[in-house]
Amino acid sequence: MNNRYAVILAAGQGTRMKSRLYKVLHSVCGKPMVQHVVDQVSKVGVDETVVVVGHGAEKVKEQLGDGISYVLQEEQLGTGHAVIQAEALLKDKDGVTIVLCGDTPLITAKTMEALLSYHEEQGAKATVLTAEASDPTGYGRIVRDESGAVRRIVEHKDATNEERAITEINTGTYCFDNALLFSALKLVGNSNVQGEYYLPDVIEILQKNKELIAAFQTNSFDETLGVNDRVALASAENIMKNRINEEHMRNGVTIIDPQNTYIGSDVTIGMDTVIEPGSILKGETTIGIECQIGPHTEIDDSAIGDGTVIKQSVVTKSEIGHHVKIGPFSHIRPLSQLNDEVKIGNFVEVKKSTFGKGSKASHLSYIGDAEVGDDVNLGCGSITVNYDGVKKHLTKVEDGAFIGCNSNLIAPVTIGKNAYVAAGSTITKDVPGDALAIARQRQTVKNDYVNKLKGN
Ligand code: UD1
Ligand code: CA
Repeated sequence: MNNRYAVILAAGQGTRMKSRLYKVLHSVCGKPMVQHVVDQVSKVGVDETVVVVGHGAEKVKEQLGDGISYVLQEEQLGTGHAVIQAEALLKDKDGVTIVLCGDTPLITAKTMEALLSYHEEQGAKATVLTAEASDPTGYGRIVRDESGAVRRIVEHKDATNEERAITEINTGTYCFDNALLFSALKLVGNSNVQGEYYLPDVIEILQKNKELIAAFQTNSFDETLGVNDRVALASAENIMKNRINEEHMRNGVTIIDPQNTYIGSDVTIGMDTVIEPGSILKGETTIGIECQIGPHTEIDDSAIGDGTVIKQSVVTKSEIGHHVKIGPFSHIRPLSQLNDEVKIGNFVEVKKSTFGKGSKASHLSYIGDAEVGDDVNLGCGSITVNYDGVKKHLTKVEDGAFIGCNSNLIAPVTIGKNAYVAAGSTITKDVPGDALAIARQRQTVKNDYVNKLKGN
């Protein structure tokens, strides 16, 4: 097998997006477009990936991280000019270079692999990935001769009416013989409507040099969708959403209403889990088997065990065990850890807290910066008073403790093992194990008060 290299073009501003965010950083199913492309390239496995950055270079690098090479295109003079920036890194290498655009987020590793294999089998010097488009407006068109061989690619803006009638489009993905790519790029000019150095012009240059040019047509136009504006962004979102949902369903996940279920591309879900309508699962989230998620639940960067039920709730950057019940209307904020069989009920907010096995906060509570042991019952309205206006403080509630309704636990404070806190208490001092703490005023009853008041 040849050495393989990848060049991903990501320097454009994306004027048509009308955005302060650089185009390739706009997300599809929760992940920036260019990250989708890089992730798929890494599945194919290439010797080196070079990303051409320009507008928002630092932001794009920050997103993609280490492990790939970057070259800077200071001025955006066209896609051909963009590829030339990779010359210093790649020109002396033998092998095949696949060029991709950072704004085609739906392309899959499978299609890249098929394109590379076709290119290699044909012994071609350049192979363009093409597709039939029902509406080819805006795309470059593939111009073939009478024998069907690819002659050149003409941009929509430069095309004659006759050429615009061609429905076979340039997807913006190509394979090239690496050395020929960089020698041909030197010959690309910019006398066209946009005054840009077009990468597709390399095809005509190589063709005129009698090099073998191939075209590989994918039957999935969807996969090659180029996102230039927000209308296309919404189409990409919809296509990817359907693709992701379908894969989960084929793997044994029930999705009640796929149109209204939004699952990020890095989420994993176990068998027999049911995802109810209106749920959004994002980031690096893993969900176990036999869970019920939703309706209307948002989970981000969290791990959920098996058999857990989460209804109408938000869970962020947290770890949830097996057979946990959350919601309706709970908020689990970052760095929380709920062990098996925990129950967090309606209108309960948990922040940076751990709950041991079987513990419960069933109604109307705020538990922040707390270590809650096993089998603890936090009554309705339990509040950890964790913030003194300057610092956050820890509350510890040890195994088996019982906190009566409407109690304030003023941190730092520890409630010992099996201790009881009477309802309505404001606890300011540690409570020893097995003790009962009552910290409220005694009740006074004034008999016959009302009659006296009314003068009866
Ligand atoms: C390009 C192709 C077109 C193809 C379409 C597929 C050219 C001239 N045209 O058109 O034939 O049908 O993609 O989606 O290549 N970029 C840079 N530097 C630049 C210019 C662009 O890095 O100087 C990057 C952009 O960030 C983008 C990609 O190259 O990720 C494609 O550029 P774009 O302007 O979107 O090209 P299209 O007009 O869509
Ligand atoms: Ca584009």
